[in-house]
Amino acid sequence: MLLPDDVELTLIDSTAIAARVAELAATLNDDYEGSENLIVVGVLKGSFIFAADLTRLLTVPHQVDFVALSSYGDSAEHSGLVRLIMDTRLPLTGRDVLIVEDILDTGHTLDYLKRNFLSRGPKSVRSCVLLHKPSRQEAHVSIEYLGFEIPDVWVVGYGLDYADRYRTLPYIGVLKPSAYGR
Ligand code: PRP
Repeated sequence: MLLPDDVELTLIDSTAIAARVAELAATLNDDYEGSENLIVVGVLKGSFIFAADLTRLLTVPHQVDFVALSSYGDSAEHSGLVRLIMDTRLPLTGRDVLIVEDILDTGHTLDYLKRNFLSRGPKSVRSCVLLHKPSRQEAHVSIEYLGFEIPDVWVVGYGLDYADRYRTLPYIGVLKPSAYGR
């Protein structure tokens, strides 16, 4: 496949993504069997494609909702200050809450969300994260369901962006350092 000018290489192709998403969904279907109140909460914008693909493979009853967050400063270098700018429409009290994230970088976003959701009296709160950069993690927060560990490179595609571009690439690609001035 011809890559856009700013993309150096394909890190995870669409076949590998689909296979891993199917494995994650199968595990979730087992783990949430019998749950009557699962709510899957996608974190905008980055998780919109992952959440759409994952939830369409869920056979357990569930509802879908979204939140949007803003971090102060550059998201790649932010200081850990996170603010909720769009909340779920559905209440979380008494629910099994599954947070769906595209990537855990410093971990501050997921740490904030888990604490925030836990304060609302849910039955459980877990996370399903497609990509994790272990070398970048600062906050001590756990991922219950993980797609792939990746190195510290700027990734785009499958929901992930650079300056809001490249989110709809069907694969996960590595951005050329020259694209963001390194
Ligand atoms: C990205 C990503 C995660 C967060 C992870 O969102 O989607 O939500 O950063 O970073 P952290 O682990 O360092 O907190 P971003 O702020 O880029 O917004 P977007 O999803 O709208 O692209």
